[in-house]
Amino acid sequence: MPHLVAPSLLSANFLRLEDEIRLINRSEADWLHLDIMDGVFVPNISFGFPVIQKVKSISEKPLDVHLMITDPSRYIERFRNAGAEVITVHFEACTHLHRCINAIKAAGAKAGVSLNPHSPVTFLSEIIGDVDLTLLMSVNPGFGGQKFIEQTYRKIRELRSLILAAGSAALIEVDGGVDLENAPLLVDAGVDILVAGNTVFSSANPLDIIRQLKHC
Ligand code: DX5
Ligand code: ZN
Repeated sequence: MPHLVAPSLLSANFLRLEDEIRLINRSEADWLHLDIMDGVFVPNISFGFPVIQKVKSISEKPLDVHLMITDPSRYIERFRNAGAEVITVHFEACTHLHRCINAIKAAGAKAGVSLNPHSPVTFLSEIIGDVDLTLLMSVNPGFGGQKFIEQTYRKIRELRSLILAAGSAALIEVDGGVDLENAPLLVDAGVDILVAGNTVFSSANPLDIIRQLKHC
């Protein structure tokens, strides 16, 4: 499968949100990545349901919703109803992860699980057969524009082995500090989905950056 590209709206210009989403619509992006932060699980607050609903009303790309919130199982239905096609929760934020993953699937979304940089890939061994997607954080979650953590390459390879050994079809998404330099290396290492915020939206030509990420 050719890899997917999911621009992260966190780095968009929120004063011109409609233009930014229409730009993504015209691009070669596969998904639109939405970062939801609660100020508890991560030291930042982003946006919530009313914004997601408005984004959904004009986005032609599936919404890939990354929940950086404590106890996300409380809100699965609401994120699904707001328009999320993919819902990813953090291993570190979920006491009853298996139940939460089942709730995401029962709501009709694809279910993802994310690991912080300090969490070993082996944490996923008992859940890998149940998820559609895994998300490796390659920065500490909470902010766009941070520096890529190099150990991520090793984690991608370990995760690929874990997925193969389990006979799982889970995809591997990498999120944080992705740029034009590391993107081809990440794809070589086995990444299926590249998330990129700052690299896309701080560029004078986001369409060209997305094209380059897509064809790297
Ligand atoms: C960070 C978010 C990322 C962020 C990526 O907590 O999960 O999705 O928007 O931004 P960049 O690509 O700028 O590191
Ligand atoms: Zn994210």
